[in-house]
Amino acid sequence: MASKTAIFRGILSQKPRFGARSMSSLFQNIEPAPKDPILGVTEAFLADPSPDKVNVGVGAYRDDNGKPVVLECVRKAERRVAGNLNMEYLPMGGSIKMVEETLNLAYGENSDFIKEKRIAAVQALSGTGACRLFADFQKRFLPDSQIYIPVPTWSNHHNIWRDAHVPQRTFHYYHPESKGLDFASLMDDVKNAPNGSFFLLHACAHNPTGVDPTEEQWREISYQFKVKNHFPFFDMAYQGFASGDPERDAKAIRIFLEDGHLIGCAQSYAKNMGLYGQRVGCLSVLCEDEKQAVAVKSQLQQIARPMYSNPPIHGALIVSIILSDPDLKNMWLKEVKVMADRIIGMRSALKENLEKLGSPLSWEHITNQIGMFCYSGMTPEQVDRLTKEFHIYMTRNGRISMAGVTTGNVGYLANAIHEVTKCA
Ligand code: LMR
Repeated sequence: MASKTAIFRGILSQKPRFGARSMSSLFQNIEPAPKDPILGVTEAFLADPSPDKVNVGVGAYRDDNGKPVVLECVRKAERRVAGNLNMEYLPMGGSIKMVEETLNLAYGENSDFIKEKRIAAVQALSGTGACRLFADFQKRFLPDSQIYIPVPTWSNHHNIWRDAHVPQRTFHYYHPESKGLDFASLMDDVKNAPNGSFFLLHACAHNPTGVDPTEEQWREISYQFKVKNHFPFFDMAYQGFASGDPERDAKAIRIFLEDGHLIGCAQSYAKNMGLYGQRVGCLSVLCEDEKQAVAVKSQLQQIARPMYSNPPIHGALIVSIILSDPDLKNMWLKEVKVMADRIIGMRSALKENLEKLGSPLSWEHITNQIGMFCYSGMTPEQVDRLTKEFHIYMTRNGRISMAGVTTGNVGYLANAIHEVTKCA
């Protein structure tokens, strides 16, 4: 038997296994990832030196001068954050105060579900993080389930459930001819899905189409979900951006709650508080009772712990300060409405400009659709021409971020759209 010294001597004299050549071969077969269909547009926009360039790609609000906006209520809350709070770790489930206020927005201030403590809720890294936590939870605890995703949807939804290894199915949503909702096919898909299926629903201001079911249609969808025992998972990234009123924009969720569903919900403050880069949001799961909610919350925390331990504190403090102070909350509600109204105004302006140019096409859908996006109906080739010839940047599915349209660029945008669509 070799002595201890001999064993160690052997190890010390060995050359490292990774020579320069083998190190380089470690990564040599890795191809660059394809550009993200949304964030890649921003990269291309930033690289374009043209003074005429316009970015209507990413869904990020701009003022009428095309500048990013920090809300006044956020500025005020930040001054308080800077004044007196520490920067200790938050609990794994995030800021309890922020989560409480966030549940009020989705479930209603006087919600019995909140009083009965039936909701498992954790702070999440904005809407994306909330969806991802839920998808991981689904894979871990409901391993035989799938997720039904609308066609089309926000491109990242596919990535999220793919990386969580949850099989994806699709359901009809958008009707290309009418540029509205394909309600009949949607209902057929809901009826034909196996009982107890998971469906991803956009709570309001559907991304990318700007097409939402009416209240009556939501009631029918909810009824059919009940018949089939389906589970609705709401992604509510735009609460306040559809109507200008966060309470009104929670209507779809409230209908499902009235009908006695268990639900999941992803909320985000990226858009409605302009806290894009703060990554502050919330995942909630309505359970049958408090005992289930405690268990589900603890498991969500377990999923978060090895990924990021606990969520960041700054954005959560801003949100909880604003929502727990009646004056700041009021100011926020007014500022949300200003943003939503500016977008609504730009919809009319874009449509009017196209009509004035004598476009042979109907542009009614620009004002019929709601929220941050207009799903224009332009083809990928037409979008490519907009970019190449006019330095206008948008996603190739024809989605226009109305938040990037201003009184200064709407004429230029309309003219370019007219040029690439008039011979269609
Ligand atoms: C969008 O759809 O443009 C936004 O939600 C930003 C993003 O992360 O894709």
